Amino acid sequence: MKPNCKSKFQLGLMVFLLPFMVACLPGVGSKVEESSSTEGQITPQGLSPEDFQKAFRRASLIFLKRSPDLEQLARISSKEDYDRAIRDLVDSPEFISTMRQYHQEFFDMSGQTMGINYNEPANLAAYLIRENRDFRDILRATYCVNDELETGDCSSFSREPEAQATYAAGAITTQGFLHRWVSSFNFERTRETLKAFACHDYPDGGDPGMTGAEVETGVHTWECSNCVPSCYSCHSTMNPRATLFYDFDRNGQFNRQPANNVATQTDTETRSERTDLLIDGVAPRFNGRVMANLRQYAVEFSETPKFASCLARRLTLFSIGGGLNARVPDQFSFAEDLLQESNFRVRDFYLGLLTRDEYVRH
Ligand code: HEC
Repeated sequence: MKPNCKSKFQLGLMVFLLPFMVACLPGVGSKVEESSSTEGQITPQGLSPEDFQKAFRRASLIFLKRSPDLEQLARISSKEDYDRAIRDLVDSPEFISTMRQYHQEFFDMSGQTMGINYNEPANLAAYLIRENRDFRDILRATYCVNDELETGDCSSFSREPEAQATYAAGAITTQGFLHRWVSSFNFERTRETLKAFACHDYPDGGDPGMTGAEVETGVHTWECSNCVPSCYSCHSTMNPRATLFYDFDRNGQFNRQPANNVATQTDTETRSERTDLLIDGVAPRFNGRVMANLRQYAVEFSETPKFASCLARRLTLFSIGGGLNARVPDQFSFAEDLLQESNFRVRDFYLGLLTRDEYVRH
């Protein structure tokens, strides 16, 4: 496949260079200046029509999961043609379905089992991208999105529908997410939230978290003088956030009734309470601020620089076919500013990114 590609590229280059070679023949040199204003020229940045065709081919393979047909490629002979083709790409239904599929992999869940729709987090992502909405709604939306990408009520709030407007927090309060990551003490829901939106695991440096006296409770002595790394380095920020998930039961349903709080259970299969994680009466804090509920944490998290850089990073890596743990190449360091300028609208962001010379050249 590769040599074939290369020879096509060389052939393209020859075809492209031919007019210039002819122009160099004795007697035709004077025509060069006039003919260089027509299609097929090199941009002032040194990008050739073949560069644009190659870049479009890659974008098409990644975002539409197919190579462009030859006529489509032949129509790309300038930066303007390329930009137009990229605009069509991000406006296409195939682009949205790729974004949905990518987010199913990203959230590590898909499909429906026993009445629980694990597509919900990816559906919300795809919906926000299709509607070109602020992607911070992935942690703020007070609705859920079905497999047809229509908005509606969340099954996680079926028992308390009126609570949805107050407590829903986008992807992380979908029943799919809550059920997928159910575990003792709600640590997995907490951990997966951080991983998805900060692009790293615990410990979460930067947040001062809780004091040792506030988290030191019956289940474990989180503050431990000889553990490396210390339990407290992770659990001082994980425990308070985990308590916020206690409003949702093991099925992923909103449930604030302490009397039948079946939220999570410990390894011993007994009921777990918030007081397993924080001293009774101590309110959870995130970045030094008291959090009333999971929604408040999610909304405030969506406004952190960490959220922005994580989103810019993973969207950029996807656009160049890089894995989640790859390094973002230096020339894409503008991506985070671009995301801010795009007001977190992913379709605008991709339109900006894919039409940058850095992307074409990469
Ligand atoms: C690097 C971060 C980190 C450190 C350090 C750490 N933990 Fe954890 N701990 C986690 C995460 C993440 C989970 C939830 C996911 C899991 O169970 O693997 C967890 C889960 C737990 C659980 C629940 C296990 C269960 O059965 O569900 C207990 C209890 C716990 N940790 C105790 C401790 C103690 C005690 C220490 C110190 C000796 C400690 N942890 C150190 C991150 C950490």
